[in-house]
Amino acid sequence: MQDQATLPQADAGTHIPAGVHAETVTEVQHYTDRLFRFRITRPPAFRFRSGEFVMIGLPNAERPVYRAYSIASPSWDEEIEFYSIKVPDGPLTEHLQRIRPGDTLLMRKKSTGTLVLDALLPGKRVYMFSTGTGIAPFASLIRDPETYEKFDEVILTHTCREVAELAYGQELVKNLMEDPLVGELARGRLRHYPTVTREPFPVMGRITDLMASGRLFADLGVPPIGPGEDRGMICGSMAMLRDTRDMLEGYGLIEGSNAQPGSFVVERAFVD
Ligand code: A2P
Repeated sequence: MQDQATLPQADAGTHIPAGVHAETVTEVQHYTDRLFRFRITRPPAFRFRSGEFVMIGLPNAERPVYRAYSIASPSWDEEIEFYSIKVPDGPLTEHLQRIRPGDTLLMRKKSTGTLVLDALLPGKRVYMFSTGTGIAPFASLIRDPETYEKFDEVILTHTCREVAELAYGQELVKNLMEDPLVGELARGRLRHYPTVTREPFPVMGRITDLMASGRLFADLGVPPIGPGEDRGMICGSMAMLRDTRDMLEGYGLIEGSNAQPGSFVVERAFVD
């Protein structure tokens, strides 16, 4: 495969394979001992749709390990942002968690994914359901003006085990509201609904349970989800995707794709 063919070594220990972008890390921020975000330079020719993912790796081996990462920055941003978990002994993340500004990151040239606005039919309200690092594609979408052109209301739910794991999302929403461009679109229309399952927090519980009990809708002051007005996007663990998908289907929503837009879309959070 093209991306695994290696060029002559740039310097000892660094292999830049052909056919991938070699970008520079510009910023790294650690939130907990398990979570961090980082930003890289953006190749001028690289285009993507907000919500898509791309394969990234490190130039630390002749055959680099690549993993799919949702792009967390919006498509207009001049840099690319990622939000990552640190997996003990994870083939990529055990090295990735040690990157610093100035380091090189490899990114394959083509982004893809189903968690995109094009795969959703028009509606009044879009729910973005996330757990853990599954918030990453929504970090891109809630900063994209197109989201607010397509929907009147944007509801971002984020469920984590512990309170500290909410920090990235809380910072994201706070910064967004203060943003001169997108902040104006988002104010009063973006609702952030964080919940925690294993520590005391104002809203506790899995999002699926909070929907089943009606608490989510009562807290937001909206009617229960229905296929006429509501659209959904889901990103989290396999179990969370399955259970949330089942609930949305129970409300009468139909899964969409790029080829056939529907009333909800699903993407798994690609981490290991
Ligand atoms: P819980 O603490 O009850 O397992 P994980 O780190 O396992 O991916 O979990 C992240 C968050 O997603 C946790 O708050 C977890 O709740 C929640 N979660 C895990 N599985 C599901 C599921 N099947 N449906 C909804 N939420 C889930």
